[in-house]
Amino acid sequence: MQELAGKHIVLGLTGGIACYKSAEFCRLLVKSGATVQVVMTEAAAQFITPVTMQALSGRPVYTSQWDVRELNNMPHINLSREADAIVLAPASADFIARLVQGRSDELLSLMCLARPMDRVPLLIAPAMNREMWSHPATQRNLRQVDADGALVLGVGNGWQACGETGDGRMLEADQLLDEVIAQFQPKVLAGQHVVVTAGPTFEALDPIRGITNHSSGKMGFAIARAARDAGAEVTLVAGPVHLPTPRGVRRVDVLSAQQMLEATLHSVRTASIFVATAAVADWRPAAHSQQKIKKDGTGKPPMLQFVENEDILLTVAQGARAQGGQLFCVGFAAESENLAEHAKAKRERKGIPLLVGNIGPLTFGQDHNSLLLVDAKGVRELPRAPKLTLARELVAEIAARLPAGLHP
Ligand code: C5P
Repeated sequence: MQELAGKHIVLGLTGGIACYKSAEFCRLLVKSGATVQVVMTEAAAQFITPVTMQALSGRPVYTSQWDVRELNNMPHINLSREADAIVLAPASADFIARLVQGRSDELLSLMCLARPMDRVPLLIAPAMNREMWSHPATQRNLRQVDADGALVLGVGNGWQACGETGDGRMLEADQLLDEVIAQFQPKVLAGQHVVVTAGPTFEALDPIRGITNHSSGKMGFAIARAARDAGAEVTLVAGPVHLPTPRGVRRVDVLSAQQMLEATLHSVRTASIFVATAAVADWRPAAHSQQKIKKDGTGKPPMLQFVENEDILLTVAQGARAQGGQLFCVGFAAESENLAEHAKAKRERKGIPLLVGNIGPLTFGQDHNSLLLVDAKGVRELPRAPKLTLARELVAEIAARLPAGLHP
């Protein structure tokens, strides 16, 4: 997906071993459609060469404010005016301290100081030893750059090049890319708390076996990410799936429909939007055997009894209505035929403002999908596209339908 098509990113590198990750990050930016202009400090060039970054970005790297290529000899002005965003990755402890002081005795800090603050965001990906990271001076400086309008992206935790283990690693290239993409999303859900259910449920028969379905969770995870990128606080109640948690999303893992119901009811107490994408099992075994159900040698299969699971969406929507309806509920319907009719009927049965229909076999496990949006006014199709694209469109549709009281 070319999510950064048309965007021009100025990528600033300062001195730190994490510079090796910036090569990959640069590559991902370019693959996502961005043009990238690299600016390096003298210290950064000790860790990775400008030649490497030039080859990956396809543009000569700037390392000095005295660069004669600029006709007016003002690279700090020209580069910062062209940028849609400036990303410092890695940002060393020293460089962050320099930003706090507004220092400008070399090109990168000069350019950051000269950036038009109202339209060019500054994203900072710190990278340093864990003691340097936790030092009060660094933490104080980070609070200050945040207060001065920069976006501090946080750090990873783990093994560091110095041999120590802890906080201070630079985020990975793909995480940095997600952060840059998020930066450009309209914040249409700022101030909202969105709860999303996703994935299948697993209804245990015994300690070994159970009943589940083919839901991959991809659509729900994409919606959680899109809502987060749109500025919402997001809680993702996830059935058993092997998907990474979108950055900044609170995840609650559950197995059974009953667990999903409990976790959802708890989470929606503070929510303004609920999106039920989970493929919840309709029935669970009436009894859960403590031991494995064994063959008894007669050839007769065991007689399994089932009871119906509570409908989470219905319960949540009814509860919200009973309390005055300050929760905007969105349901999903996976059908195999007559999508529009089934979806319309389901929306009315569940008593919700928006229902999203999709064809089950065309979505389960796929990275692409197409959606049919059904509300009181009618039906609208979102044609086949990557699930994240559809999720962003759906988030915009939800934002446009929020009742006046739900706008922050
Ligand atoms: O009635 P049906 O299961 O087709 O409805 C699908 C919608 O209801 C989805 O949004 C799904 O997440 C939700 N659902 C639920 N709890 C159930 C069954 C379905 O939340 N037990």
